[in-house]
Amino acid sequence: MIQFSGVSKYYDKEIIFKNISFTIEKGDLVYVTGPSGVGKTTLLKLIYCAELPDEGHINVAGWDLKKLRQGTIPYLRRNIGVVFQDFRLLPNKTVFDNIALTLKIQDMHPKEIKENVDEVLKNIRLKHKSYLFPLQLSGGEQQRVVIARAIVSRPSVLLADEPTGNLDSDTSAAIMKLFKDINAKGATVLIATHNETLFQGSGRRTIHLRDSQIEKETIG
Ligand SMILES: Nc1ncnc2c1ncn2[C@@H]1O[C@H](COP(=O)(O)OP(=O)(O)OP(=O)(O)O)[C@@H](O)[C@H]1O
Ligand SMILES: [Mg+2]
Repeated sequence: MIQFSGVSKYYDKEIIFKNISFTIEKGDLVYVTGPSGVGKTTLLKLIYCAELPDEGHINVAGWDLKKLRQGTIPYLRRNIGVVFQDFRLLPNKTVFDNIALTLKIQDMHPKEIKENVDEVLKNIRLKHKSYLFPLQLSGGEQQRVVIARAIVSRPSVLLADEPTGNLDSDTSAAIMKLFKDINAKGATVLIATHNETLFQGSGRRTIHLRDSQIEKETIG
């Protein structure tokens, strides 16, 4: 589902990745970890084609990203839900409309949109706040909205960048359960985090990044 072959990535003269290769199979749930600044967010950006590799090949859901034309990127992204580390909620749209946006773009019928959005709002326990604007929510509530927005279209690939960064341990556990449920329904899930408690004891594959390389892989 996600394949990196000999991928190198540089920002100016800084080497972020040097010749890294790995494969994530369809339906897997995998963690990526490593210290701050190692390149976790950059790795996710390479997968949803917000950055291109300087060397090597990346294949996502059958698409060779190097051969992807600019106009095709939206079609790739329809398959990918992203939980952004920096949220990127639209401040002038309500919680409901922020979550509904991707479904509107896909021309879903308004009644169906409401059903889908209401269901994820229930899952993240924010149904009562659907008509508020992002800045009227706490940091953890905003984070849950970002997660809802990423999963509402039932993407086949879910990328989550530090998804529990602002959450207390109970909410964090509830969100992780949501990811596991989505994974159990067939989605490939990749979670970037430096929070060891997420992957330790999870029994899941964890890719550890260090010094522009995959340092090791463990089963959490
Ligand atoms: N657009 C950019 N231009 C130049 N350098 C960048 C750019 N984006 C990221 N970097 C650099 O790439 C390195 C990796 O950044 P990245 O955000 O991928 O790290 P991270 O592992 O996600 O860190 P954190 O755990 O703090 O979120 C950092 O040193 C950062 O300064
Ligand atoms: Mg990051």
